[in-house]
Amino acid sequence: MTATREVLVDLGSRAYPIRIGRGLLVDPGWTGAIGSRPRLLLADATVDRLHGEPVRAALGLSEGSVFAIEPGEASKSADTAARAWAWIAERRLPRDGVIVALGGGVVGDLAGFVAATWMRGIDFVQLPTTLLAMVDSSVGGKTAINLPAGKNLVGAFHQPLAVVADLATLDTLPQRELAAGLAETLKYGAIVDPAFFAWVEDRAAALVARDDEALAGAIRASCAHKAAIVARDERETGDRALLNFGHTFGHAIEAAGGFRDLLHGEAVAIGMVLAARLSARLGLAPEADAARLETALERLGLPTRVPATMSAEDLLERMRLDKKGLSGRLRLVLWRGIGRAEIATDVPEAAIRDVLSA
Ligand code: NAD
Ligand code: GLY
Repeated sequence: MTATREVLVDLGSRAYPIRIGRGLLVDPGWTGAIGSRPRLLLADATVDRLHGEPVRAALGLSEGSVFAIEPGEASKSADTAARAWAWIAERRLPRDGVIVALGGGVVGDLAGFVAATWMRGIDFVQLPTTLLAMVDSSVGGKTAINLPAGKNLVGAFHQPLAVVADLATLDTLPQRELAAGLAETLKYGAIVDPAFFAWVEDRAAALVARDDEALAGAIRASCAHKAAIVARDERETGDRALLNFGHTFGHAIEAAGGFRDLLHGEAVAIGMVLAARLSARLGLAPEADAARLETALERLGLPTRVPATMSAEDLLERMRLDKKGLSGRLRLVLWRGIGRAEIATDVPEAAIRDVLSA
């Protein structure tokens, strides 16, 4: 039996624990942070069907206290948020009420945003059920909905009261979704921790095979890295931006695939390889480190090449649009090699075009 791990996100009076272990949701002890306060559950409909029962029981919820959300990115919308607000209003959730989010990053981001805005902000608890949500989206307080004009354009920084990651929920997660989470896990090693990078490399087969010890160790280390970064830069005025390694390339690839062809984590895997190759081309980092990153991602079951159907020019244009709104210059996270990411401004477009077409 895997021991339960705990990581603290140390934000002073807003500090909160992340608990990681198998079977945590079956033990009603996880509701301790909520106590006897009024509560409502916002849940991914698939996850509610698979794992909702013990959560409902622990929270003492009736059928009418669960808002089931259609799975998929399309639910992270103003329309779903408005329906959730109306539903919460009917139930008169008071200021001391708590919203519990059960599901992946879509539900976590949406429910977090609804909690951040209901009565100007009430408490919420994250019960992440995808690996990506466990290692990234449930931690750090970024909440958001999408607009037709772009992803995550409306949102708030709103930290949860607690995060409970039950490994048992991962038993039903499709393999591609698991691999997408492993990409974000390896990212922490790639940007700040060469020893953790090597740890993931060594355990790639165990992680892909869902070995509990390997997964628990990977989630704990990922959360510890994210917690440390968020504690020093909650609002991304500095090095929280390093978490976006591979993401500017990744967003362009995700968008070029119509948000259907590739999962977010898969597009980020390709994006990290491109960022590493670009760093090598600019003379910042060894080419061998880029090759090592690519091999590690392949072992985790991830794609590492830009799909042949996508053109370099189209991707470059999408990257320009993604970044122009901020400063008009291309600002990317590059690296000096494994474990040493940094922000680069004014990256020459010709070099980006070269790696996109290689
Ligand atoms: P998701 O929430 O869409 O979940 C992926 C799929 O897995 C869904 O179909 C869902 O129904 C299913 N699923 C979830 N848990 C399951 C389980 N245990 N068993 C079986 N099926 C399960 O996707 P995601 O990858 O978790 O999250 C992506 C979202 O996270 C994006 O909207 C992205 O913008 C956001 N995100 C936010 C942050 C942040 O810091 N807030 C960071 C990274 C990503
Ligand atoms: N996923 C990036 C961040 O939380 O800052």
